[in-house]
Amino acid sequence: STLEMEVEQIRKGNFEHFMEKEIHEQPDSLTMTMRGQLIRGGEQKAKGILLGGLKDHLKTMRRSRRILFIGCGTSYHAALAARPVVEELSGIPVTMEIASDLLDRQGPIYREDTAIFVSQSGETADTLQALEYAKSNGALCVGITNTVGSAIARGTHCGIHLNAGCEIGVASTKAYTSQIAVIVMLALLDKDMKELAALLMDEQSLLVFGRGYNYATALECALKVKEVSLMHAEGIVAGEMKHGPLALVDETLPIIVIATRDASLNKQQSVIQQLKARKGRLIVMCTEGDAEFMCPDGTCRFIEVPKVQDCLQPIINIVPLQLLAYHLTVFRGFNVDQPRNLAKCVTTQ
Ligand code: AGP
Repeated sequence: STLEMEVEQIRKGNFEHFMEKEIHEQPDSLTMTMRGQLIRGGEQKAKGILLGGLKDHLKTMRRSRRILFIGCGTSYHAALAARPVVEELSGIPVTMEIASDLLDRQGPIYREDTAIFVSQSGETADTLQALEYAKSNGALCVGITNTVGSAIARGTHCGIHLNAGCEIGVASTKAYTSQIAVIVMLALLDKDMKELAALLMDEQSLLVFGRGYNYATALECALKVKEVSLMHAEGIVAGEMKHGPLALVDETLPIIVIATRDASLNKQQSVIQQLKARKGRLIVMCTEGDAEFMCPDGTCRFIEVPKVQDCLQPIINIVPLQLLAYHLTVFRGFNVDQPRNLAKCVTTQ
């Protein structure tokens, strides 16, 4: 009817088609995806923020022998796009399955598998049937959908809601980018800074060595640790190590060395060698896959991060360190959002 057509035009706003609108919506839909995740737990209840819906199952996921991504069409492509980072960060082999092909082959699925079902609508028959199949084979089934209460959202053990907003155009566009974002977030969060914070929570002090692009990262990490967790921390430009700080090094003082791949890598490697020679207690932040080569004797702990352009690496590197400061604070029982003696805006001199 004319009324329906008018309503439809209003919903399209200034765009001629939903597809065009949804393509242009991506800065917003991606922000929504990354921000307020509507999380569901076992009983489909909203459960908090940021992948909280997976919380109870993360251990099982980490222990699984294989991750299978299962979907159709665009949803399959989104998983395919995010596969490399999942594989790289989790160290778990990732298999891709087009839902119908998996069913045609009755491909093997085991109890030790985590099967991740990606579907915008959450109602695609092939994907849903593959879900029933994977469940009957005992795999942990995780859903990534854009539709709360959909069959796939209900049928999986746990999952993530895309929160990209309703997609009306048949050609899937904004769901694709949100699906990739969610899967990448899943891989990134898997690196657990909470564990490291638990290990360091009773320490008196922490040193952070950085240089070049990541000199600021070292300073900023130390500032975060100091201001919220109330633990003494010092960010040091690594070139200065021999001019004083080296005297502090012993078997007990924790030291973070930022040694991700860039022009400073060789110099940071030699810093690591010198610290190791003094039995320093090292936590090395390195590029994913470099851990063994950075410290073949296995005496260091690692924070592995994905490689990006050198000049953008500080953006990636600071995130786990911010998480470290955050978890340290929670463990130590201090106020995260209103640190002692500090104000958000300092209006006095
Ligand atoms: C993509 O433009 C198509 N509409 C189609 O390939 C779609 O992605 C596929 O049918 C899967 O749908 P789903 O994400 O809702 O499961």
